[in-house]
Amino acid sequence: MKAWQIQHRGSLEGLVLADVPRPELGDGQVRVRMRAASVNYRDLIATRIERPGALTPLIPCSDGAGEVVEVGAGVTKWKAGDRVIGCFFQDWDSGRIRREVMRSDLGGPLHGVLAQEVIFRENGLVPIPEHLSFEQASTLPCAALTAWHALVENGRVCAGETVLLLGTGGVSIFALQIAKMHGARVIITSSSDAKLAKARELGADDTINYRTFPDWQVRVHELTNKRGADHVVEVGGWGTLEKSIESVAYGGQVHTIGVLTGFEGKINPWQIIAKSACVCGLYVGSREMFEAMNRAISLHRIEPVIDRVFNFADARAAFARMESGAHFGKLVVRI
Ligand SMILES: NC(=O)c1ccc[n+]([C@@H]2O[C@H](COP(=O)([O-])OP(=O)(O)OC[C@H]3O[C@@H](n4cnc5c(N)ncnc54)[C@H](OP(=O)(O)O)[C@@H]3O)[C@@H](O)[C@H]2O)c1
Repeated sequence: MKAWQIQHRGSLEGLVLADVPRPELGDGQVRVRMRAASVNYRDLIATRIERPGALTPLIPCSDGAGEVVEVGAGVTKWKAGDRVIGCFFQDWDSGRIRREVMRSDLGGPLHGVLAQEVIFRENGLVPIPEHLSFEQASTLPCAALTAWHALVENGRVCAGETVLLLGTGGVSIFALQIAKMHGARVIITSSSDAKLAKARELGADDTINYRTFPDWQVRVHELTNKRGADHVVEVGGWGTLEKSIESVAYGGQVHTIGVLTGFEGKINPWQIIAKSACVCGLYVGSREMFEAMNRAISLHRIEPVIDRVFNFADARAAFARMESGAHFGKLVVRI
């Protein structure tokens, strides 16, 4: 079968379309004919940096959707023809995250989904919400679930609260849709006025261009009558974390998710203490959270925002578009 592989790291030239053996199906496993995959920032990082324990070559991408073609002995949940989405973590069914879970992500230590066929654990799949296409469904496992985990599972966001979102990438645009679903007010930042206009069309209440207003935390306080945001979905890392903490309300939550500006940084704990703020890290989510999110997506008929769909042979261009930062929402590869 055909699969994309990260054959060497450092540049997108190391991402190569290859002929690889069809994976073997074991007991308790499910063979899925992949129809679509979506790209996350972490997949781009995987082309640059070798994570300890990573396979080389590695089939990249955690997020994909397709059709069941065959099930292994003992599988009762699925049959041929079922439309399914893979879970980011193959070993996190429910409950709190555990150390072992962190070794079960697709496109990380395990081969990912940018391939014609993929073998999943029986419990490492969820059904596709009926109103979604394979392409739309492929956007959910990482970006959407992370936003859901932050705002709903941890944050218990509710009507009238203010949610601050940074940039208009995959996680932030899902967080916008989820916050509006819960009746919250959304303030979103971007480097682009055109992207901010699109965010307003999706329901964003207030927008800030972080290039025009580098001190966007000041603007957040102006917009909230000095109260600050109840939730900050913090995807920036060291370059934004301090301003996110300055933006959060007393007793509010900074959902610490991303590293868009890098992995380093020093943080003065005083603001966190003085504001009784909760600065809490999180990593995607469990299958149980994924199922809960999909019930809400089905009920509210949420449509993922897709920037562009690429053909399988052009998958490298999807990574290049993410690298350029030109996208709004999700980048998808049709398989
Ligand atoms: N912890 C987890 O479980 C988890 C899960 C998913 C993602 N992540 C992390 O979260 C981050 C976002 O992931 P993603 O897939 O949503 O990325 P993405 O789709 O590539 O989003 C990138 C966007 O973020 C914005 N951005 C970049 N630098 C910024 C800055 N300094 N300040 C504000 N916004 C900035 C830009 O938006 P504009 O063009 O609008 O300026 C850019 O287009 C990544 O670091 C990723 O690794 C973590």
